[in-house]
Amino acid sequence: VKKYGYQPCVNIGTAGHVDHGKTTLIQALTGVWTSAHSEELKRGITIKVGYADAAFYKCKSCEVPLGYSVTPKCNNCGKESELSRVVSFVDSPGHESLMANMLSGSALIDGAMLLVAANEKVPQPQTKEHLLALQTLGIKQVVIVQNKVDLISYEQAMENYADIVKFVKGTSAAKAPIIPISAQSKLNIDALIGAIETSIPTPERDDKKDTVMHVLRSFDINKPGTKIKDIKGGVIGGSIIQGIFKAGDEIEIKPGLPNEKTGKYESIFTEIASLGTGAGIVKEVKAGGLIALATKLDPAMTRSDSLIGSVIGKPGTLPENSYNAKIEVNLFDTAVGSGEEIKVSAIQTGESLRLSLGTAPLLSKVTSVRGKTVELQFKRPVCIFENSKVAISRRISERWRLIGAGVSSG
Ligand code: GTP
Ligand code: MG
Ligand code: MG
Repeated sequence: VKKYGYQPCVNIGTAGHVDHGKTTLIQALTGVWTSAHSEELKRGITIKVGYADAAFYKCKSCEVPLGYSVTPKCNNCGKESELSRVVSFVDSPGHESLMANMLSGSALIDGAMLLVAANEKVPQPQTKEHLLALQTLGIKQVVIVQNKVDLISYEQAMENYADIVKFVKGTSAAKAPIIPISAQSKLNIDALIGAIETSIPTPERDDKKDTVMHVLRSFDINKPGTKIKDIKGGVIGGSIIQGIFKAGDEIEIKPGLPNEKTGKYESIFTEIASLGTGAGIVKEVKAGGLIALATKLDPAMTRSDSLIGSVIGKPGTLPENSYNAKIEVNLFDTAVGSGEEIKVSAIQTGESLRLSLGTAPLLSKVTSVRGKTVELQFKRPVCIFENSKVAISRRISERWRLIGAGVSSG
């Protein structure tokens, strides 16, 4: 793992249709192939959200964007460059069946690269659905990446470019820069870095607010057969959205786990044993980048992503768990995730919907509908903040489709 002197300060996601080259681009930018699980290698697609860090450098002597690179040596003139920013990439899957994972990853990002393969008709279904997802989650900073230009002629590239402009007209990405690249041949990466540096600024963070971390992963890092005295506590990965954590801090994890006797969910309390970021093992972390918390928990509790979707804060600062939620809903006109567009009908009492709230995909049942206000009930309790953005999906011909955007109203 490469280590940088600084914690990454911004999380940049990938979005776009299956096979349009998201993971290849992350590899071109970071050197890391993030989809390395056996099932991902077998099927040739990204399944779980991946992540990798990169440092962007800018040459003092060369013009923008020629002087941008991911190495401290300028690709253009060969001189030493200055560090511009350390960034973290969150790589989403593009397959239509993996929208829940895409939405979980996107809950953590500050901006996105929307990849469009230049050798296919624009737009493909998940090109549209992912752009809607970004809009739903309030992610306005977008760079459009016209990928695979090595496969087409200049004229075809210009036609495809015009199709992209037409597609994004009237959307939140209407003003986004469109950068032609080849991720595979690492062509025009300097221009892409330039566009990211201009269009996806580091957001203002509030370190003083109560810390909130969303969990994307959790692991048991011990090899089978490890001696009891050598066993390391459970490790939790995710991103802080506000506030800071320090090594040694007491933390509370919600919604927690059911009490064995009463069946009632109880928070998990533990201590941060150590903290890892793109900067290595550190004493303190804030928002930006994916971080890992080593805890004193029994590693069985964190095994195989068991805590995905959880929220972590300092004890007593998180909202109470709740079995229901009131959401202000804005339905889309059509569900766009399949080849054909399907008109979205009104939400009905009694129907099942999937909410994506933070990194958690949640199955729910509609208990009441009054105008745009929808009340829902969950099987398991959830930790919901007021005014959180929620993505709403409905099962349409065997697939979960994004049908609307919501805001939790407590
Ligand atoms: P999912 O995560 O499954 O949605 O796919 P992805 O968007 O991450 O695509 P991935 O990076 O796995 O690339 C898909 C295929 O396109 C691979 O065979 C890549 O080698 C190829 N590819 C990616 N970028 C380029 C490019 O710039 N030019 C060419 N010719 N092929 C590319
Ligand atoms: Mg991929
Ligand atoms: Mg693929």
